[in-house]
Amino acid sequence: MALDFNQCRMYSSKIVGLGHYVPETVITNQYLSNLMDTNNEWIIERTGIQERRWIDPAKDTVGNMSAKAARLALQRANLTEKDVDFIVFACITSDYYFPGSGVIMQRELGLEGIGALEVKNACSGFIYALSVADQFIKTGMYKTVLVVGAEIQSTALDITTRGRNTAVIFGDGAGAAILQRSDKPGILSTHLHADGRFAEELYVKDPGSSRPHAERQPEQFLDTTGFKVVMNGNLVFKHAVVRFMEVINEALQANGMKKEDISLLVPHQANLRISQFIQQKLELPDEKVYNNIMRYGNTTAASIPIAMSEAWAEGKMKENDVICLAAFGSGFTWASALIRW
Ligand code: COA
Repeated sequence: MALDFNQCRMYSSKIVGLGHYVPETVITNQYLSNLMDTNNEWIIERTGIQERRWIDPAKDTVGNMSAKAARLALQRANLTEKDVDFIVFACITSDYYFPGSGVIMQRELGLEGIGALEVKNACSGFIYALSVADQFIKTGMYKTVLVVGAEIQSTALDITTRGRNTAVIFGDGAGAAILQRSDKPGILSTHLHADGRFAEELYVKDPGSSRPHAERQPEQFLDTTGFKVVMNGNLVFKHAVVRFMEVINEALQANGMKKEDISLLVPHQANLRISQFIQQKLELPDEKVYNNIMRYGNTTAASIPIAMSEAWAEGKMKENDVICLAAFGSGFTWASALIRW
């Protein structure tokens, strides 16, 4: 029988600070309709997105956006960089093909020497990262872990009519959480899943190592569309609504809770219709679901920590509340976390 690590904890871990950063440039639906054959009504009706943030390549990188989010999280936790023992960094759009941007952020924060682990699980990445950090704290290995989700998707989008089904959805941003050892319950559970049979239903192919040598050369890249996001939107949607519900119910059952026990649901911001579907299924009132996709689009691994940081700042996460996080994305991967605030 598999060991249930959620049951054999030695310490508890608690989120003690949240922060986020989004680029200044607002991209409206109107702006996109000047670039491609789309329109404001279609985008709002199908996705709920009104605008998103895209980076200015002269200013923003995944590394520096993350550092800004991390500093805000530390400040809100009354901690400094020196208190961080370890970094878990969720991102599929790192500044370089390798290394990951966890080490770039680490450098910006002046934290050279501590470990920085990269998590590449797309939209589920932040919950996977939170789960990893939680295990390190529960076993006593680390006391304070900086958990980050950050992405720059805009530069990978095909912003012509050919790429309109993905170009209208994605945005850029970074979010951070400080997870710390605690004697009170915090992270109650995390459940992580994946199904690689669907790997190519939402993916970026290049620069993949599976390419023959000649095709991995930069000149060849210019002639291919392999860098672009490929997404079977319909199929992704259908799997998302099923998996979201499954993994939320799994979390509730594991903790002997019912849907009524959820104080606030913070779903990955994939599509407003997906969030609304889950809300309906769980029969949650509007005030118990936090959505900000209207303003930021889908920021992949950054969406949950950005939403949490905003919800916290708006006073929507109070002591003892049960916060439910849930995500679904490329892989496919899906995950949930239940947190006692
Ligand atoms: N503007 C205008 N029309 C568009 C468009 C756009 N941006 N993108 C696609 N269309 C068109 C299609 O070409 C198609 O036209 P056709 O019927 O003439 O062929 C029509 O709209 C319907 O396309 P379809 O893909 O079936 O639409 P949809 O209702 O499934 O909505 C998504 C598309 C992408 C919004 C939707 O599938 C979705 O949100 N999927 C989940 C994606 C997701 O959450 N991804 C992230 C996971 S973390």
